[in-house]
Amino acid sequence: MQSIKGLRWLTVVLVTSMVIMGCGGDEGTDETTTTAAAGGEMTGEVEVFSWWTGGGEAAGLEAMIGVFATEDPGIEFVNSAVAGGAGTNARAVLASRLQANDPPDSWQGHAGWELIGTYVAADQIESLNFLYDQEGWLDVMPETLIPLISKDGDIYSVPVNIHRANVLWANPTVLADAGIDMPESFDDFVTALQTLKDGGMDAPLAMGEQWTSMHLFETVLLATLGPDDYNALWDGSGSWDEAGVTTALENFATLLDFTNSDASALSWQDAGQLVIDGSAAFNVMGDWQEGFFREIGSVPQEGYTWAPVPGTGGNFQFLSDSFVLAKNAPHRDEAIAWLTVAGSREGQDAFNPVKGSIPARNDGDRSLYGEYLLSAMDDWASNTVVGSLTHGVVANDSWKSEIDTALGLFMQSRDVAAFQTALVAAAAASPNE
Ligand code: GAL
Repeated sequence: MQSIKGLRWLTVVLVTSMVIMGCGGDEGTDETTTTAAAGGEMTGEVEVFSWWTGGGEAAGLEAMIGVFATEDPGIEFVNSAVAGGAGTNARAVLASRLQANDPPDSWQGHAGWELIGTYVAADQIESLNFLYDQEGWLDVMPETLIPLISKDGDIYSVPVNIHRANVLWANPTVLADAGIDMPESFDDFVTALQTLKDGGMDAPLAMGEQWTSMHLFETVLLATLGPDDYNALWDGSGSWDEAGVTTALENFATLLDFTNSDASALSWQDAGQLVIDGSAAFNVMGDWQEGFFREIGSVPQEGYTWAPVPGTGGNFQFLSDSFVLAKNAPHRDEAIAWLTVAGSREGQDAFNPVKGSIPARNDGDRSLYGEYLLSAMDDWASNTVVGSLTHGVVANDSWKSEIDTALGLFMQSRDVAAFQTALVAAAAASPNE
């Protein structure tokens, strides 16, 4: 970390000289130089917003905060995480704070259209090109990711990880007892579910509240359509009217028949717990689920096993958690110090093994990661990469919210034709732009 700090100081000195010479940037830059140059070791606080409050996620964040505390001991980390709903609750609180011109200094925003279509579009965050230059991040961050966090040549966030969305988690004992192998195709999956149901397990596929059904839905879209047609739905080149989408919706409805009736009352951790307990055989969830499994002491290949969601093998449906710098951040220097740690190898290697994700940087220390995450690293490097809907990559917030409304109605009605009509309308009403 010395080198990170050293580089940061070099930049502070350079920027300070530029300001003195009259070539300084905006107000924020002046502020940086004043505080940093005067203070020696930085003091103050930084308020950081996320929704990581439990089950592996809070522990991952704490681990990165630990690196921050070592690197910048004078800065108090104010953790303003808001629980629940894969960010739904936190983002509602964030939106009202932004509305009231009361931003936290930094917050978790997903790479992709969530970031670009909301915070960049509303001019709520700063370009971070200066930090990328200073830290040399363009050499270590994946090329595929940079366009998803950029607009007009400006880079707007610091990705801390890559999560995989299309993972099927399973209880190996339940499968072995029923004589079932991990399913690879969608048809195998349905056969396995039916076998378990016939054997007396009423709801072999554990699901939680509504966003987790959207999560399941996006993986079924990918499984049914394949990566090209899946991508075409989001970039405008494909139509939601196609027969393939009808089949995907039917497939989704088929899976819902095997899920628990109390899903809407359960968190994603609750749904994962059903698998660990052996009350359910399967759960489709992003790999933060592994962070939770580890947190509760479950052991890979004993308590749980995994595979790509059936029909999606060879594809890595991804999302990336990334941190931004608020425009007019109350503690801008401290926020930059935080972002520097979030983008560092040390920060990412502390956070990700616990969070259940792989580092966004390509130079993570593999010896720190367990069997599942090593397999995710290999797949990220070799698979076809597509983006997640539920976690902000492929659709802007308005589009996603319209899909969510249509999905909510579908969960009640199971009316495939009406769902498809609503999806066609959503794509027309809120295209990515
Ligand atoms: C996602 C987020 C993950 C994890 C998950 C469940 O949106 O990207 O990091 O937090 O929600 O909380």
